[in-house]
Parts: sequence; structure tokens; C-alpha cells
Amino acid sequence: MPERVHGREELRARTARWRAAGESIALVPTMGALHEGHLALVRRAAELAAHVVVSIFVNPTQFAPNEDFGRYPRTLEADVAALEATPAELVYAPDAETMYPEGFSTRVVPQGGPADGLESITRPHFFGGVATVVTKLFNQVQPDIALFGEKDYQQLRVVERMARDLDLGVRVIGIPTLRESDGLALSSRNRYLSYSERQLAPVLHRALADAAAEIAGGAPIAAVLSEARRALDLSGFAVDYVEARHAETLAPIASPAEGPIRLLAAAKLGSTRLIDNLAVPAPAH
Ligand code: PAJ
Repeated sequence: MPERVHGREELRARTARWRAAGESIALVPTMGALHEGHLALVRRAAELAAHVVVSIFVNPTQFAPNEDFGRYPRTLEADVAALEATPAELVYAPDAETMYPEGFSTRVVPQGGPADGLESITRPHFFGGVATVVTKLFNQVQPDIALFGEKDYQQLRVVERMARDLDLGVRVIGIPTLRESDGLALSSRNRYLSYSERQLAPVLHRALADAAAEIAGGAPIAAVLSEARRALDLSGFAVDYVEARHAETLAPIASPAEGPIRLLAAAKLGSTRLIDNLAVPAPAH
């Protein structure tokens, strides 16, 4: 049964004991509404460090006023229950006052590099909110490593870059995306989908998989991407982007020779925004 702490002092007391004993700490930052994808991060964390802290905080600064902050699922009791089946030892669930006390007026804003484009176009506030809260969580927990899902690939790369740029002293580790059997990436937001939207949702992954196979087979990237956009459009998605980027730097990429390539996409089904991404296999020689 993981212990639940809400305040910074309680948190510090627990982690200080571990640190004093020279034992390593892994942090898995989440916004709760936990699913198997989150639990996979926790299990991997326990393989890499002696102690696992899971943070649960629906971070208001990464949502724009028109986004789903108000209706984002908050299921703390169920989340703690789900973590019982994992090696997580501590659930850190700070309240808004702990994270953003009255008068709070600092923001960590990633600029350029992996933060350029993609999510930043439709959600220009997003990485500033993520970077600010992740910096605070790193400072509060002081973990040796932190695990992030490849599901949010740009976020993973932005946080990695930030940890390096700001000497945060935390090793950022990415974990492959967990999917439903039909290919849909697990996401807390999947519960917003209506029955018919849920039937359509795996088309996003399929479009990326088809595009990745074609690019690996030598088809021109730009043509493949416009075909993927068109296929999603025709299926009823409102496409934000389908792009090919360098898998590590996220720099735009025009040919497989500049790779490794990662395809990234975001599209709305009704009012639900889905994101996904996939590696393009190295071309066979
Ligand atoms: P959240 O969406 O709750 O995701 C928490 C972590 O779980 C992220 O690193 C995310 O990439 C990972 N994750 C989500 N779905 C996954 C899946 N299907 N397979 C593998 N990993 C998956 O991402 C956030 O919260 C927030 O932005 C946060 C980093 C906590 C900052 O507020």
C-alpha cells in the first residue's frame, strides 16, 4: 500500500531518509486518472531505482482557458488503489496551494529546439506549464531519475532538454507507449470518447503505422504525410498536424537520410483531442 503525502514537508521527511541511506529515487509525474500506461512507468521505475514516488497533480498552468482543466478526471482514491498492485511506495498529491501559492509569479518556458511547433502551435501555453510544474516536482522530490511516456513524445524530449539545459540533476527516461489491442494509445482522455468515436479512434495509430511503413519503404515523406492527413480527414478527424521529425532533436526532417524519424500526430474526434506518434523503422538495405 503506497503511503499518501500531500505536503512538501512530509514528502521531504520520507525522501530524506532514503537519500541519507544512499538509496536511489525514481519519480513518475502524472495527473492521475491512472491507466496501465502510467502503471507501466511505475513498474519500470522500480526496476531502475530503489524507491518510487508517483506524483498526482492536475496542473492548471498547462491548460488554456478553453481546454478541459475543469472536467479533467480526478480519481485520487481509485488511483491510490491502482498503485497498490505496483511497487510505488509514495503517492505525492500536492494541493494547488502547495504548488502555486498566492503571489506565485515564475514560469519556466522552453523555447526553440524540441519545443518548436507540433503541440506548441495549438497549445502555445502548454510546455511552459509542463516545464514549470516538472521543475517544481524535481526540486521537491529530488529524484535520481524521472520516467516519462513516449505517448507524449514531444513532452518527453522537451523535459529531457530542460533537465540538461538547467542542470536539474535528474536523468529523464522514456518508456514505450502502451496501447489497446486495436492500437489506440492508452490515455486518460480516451474516456471522453463516445462509443462511435472510440470505434474510430484507432485509425490515428493505423494512419501513422501505414505512413511509417511507406516511408521506410522509400516513399517520399511529404506525399506520405499528406495522404495520412487526408485519410484522417476522411475518417472524421479534424487534424492538427501529422509531421515527420528527427526522433531525438525533433528538428523537421525531409529525407530518411537525416533520420532516425519519428512521426507525430494530433487530431480531434468530436471535442476530444488525441495525440500519438511512432518510430519509422530504419530503411532496409
Ligand atoms: P499524464 O497525462 O497523466 O501522463 C503521465 C505520464 O504517463 C506521462 O509521462 C505520459 O507520457 C505517460 N503516459 C500516458 N499515457 C501513456 C501510455 N499509453 N503509455 C505509456 N506512457 C503513458 O503527461 C502528464 O500527465 C503531465 O503533462 C505531467 C508530465 C504530469 C506534468 O503535469
